[in-house]
Amino acid sequence: MKHFTSVLDIPSLGNWLEDAKALKKDPRGHLHLGKGKTLGLLFFNNSLRTRLSTQKAAINLGMDVMVMNFGKEGWALEFADGTVMNGQSAEHIREAARVVSQYCDILGIRAFAQLENRELDESEPVLNGFLQHATIPVVNLESALGHPLQALADAITLEENRIKKQPRVVLTWAPHPRALPHAVANSFVQIMQRMPVDLSIVQPSGYELDKSIIGNTPVYFDQAKALQGADFVYAKNWSSFEQYGQVVSEDQDWMVTKEKLGDAKFMHCLPVRRNVVVEDAVLESEQSLVIQQANNRTYSAQLVLKKLLEGLT
Ligand code: CP
Repeated sequence: MKHFTSVLDIPSLGNWLEDAKALKKDPRGHLHLGKGKTLGLLFFNNSLRTRLSTQKAAINLGMDVMVMNFGKEGWALEFADGTVMNGQSAEHIREAARVVSQYCDILGIRAFAQLENRELDESEPVLNGFLQHATIPVVNLESALGHPLQALADAITLEENRIKKQPRVVLTWAPHPRALPHAVANSFVQIMQRMPVDLSIVQPSGYELDKSIIGNTPVYFDQAKALQGADFVYAKNWSSFEQYGQVVSEDQDWMVTKEKLGDAKFMHCLPVRRNVVVEDAVLESEQSLVIQQANNRTYSAQLVLKKLLEGLT
């Protein structure tokens, strides 16, 4: 594995989940691997979990870490070739990526969808710009289309909590006052499609994800019915894909409540808006896995960094 940009980069999910279990038992057992190596993390968007868990993962592997809030502190980057740079952009990705590659051994990039132009978002200009011009491995810390480190942490969490051989997992759309990207939902669906689970999606009409992500996963529109008998309920808001980036429904009836949850475990990537996406009673209950998911972000990142470091030596 040269880079980690998508859950599709995981060659064998079953083996990786076993590796994650072993890492969790002995997180500091590979300190030698990262000795003398530097992880650079460039954030074009805000973060709590990704920023700290990825640093923690690198520290557990003996790496040094440099973090930059690139969106706020870096020069505005130009991504297109041949541009006359007499506007806002002060630096071209061609220089920036090669310069950063001299300071670091592995590079993490967070750059969300802008939700204004689907074609532009789908071209992943920031992530692909660094992939094209950096000379070191690149890790996706959430891009326009995917959040693979979150999805891997979700898979680890599900594995730790599964009782049934093939649990029923429901991804439910939930309300939110703002238009949010599709990345978390996309990667969650993609990783669950690779696990021995019975996956379905429930959402209001108009919130269908990209067809290429949904594949054969069943999509329902009646939340109460879809959640009945679920073992895991994963809540997430996303904006419309068809009416790209639009909020076409703010229906509060889609908030996850204790009543709708039944006996299922509750999952969310965080940050979560209480009493909008999910009611307090769910988050405060023992059915909530959200803190465990956030903890597993360290081990998903550590597993990816370990694999990349092994490829460097
Ligand atoms: N789940 C997640 O990626 O959290 P942050 O946005 O805080 O990094």
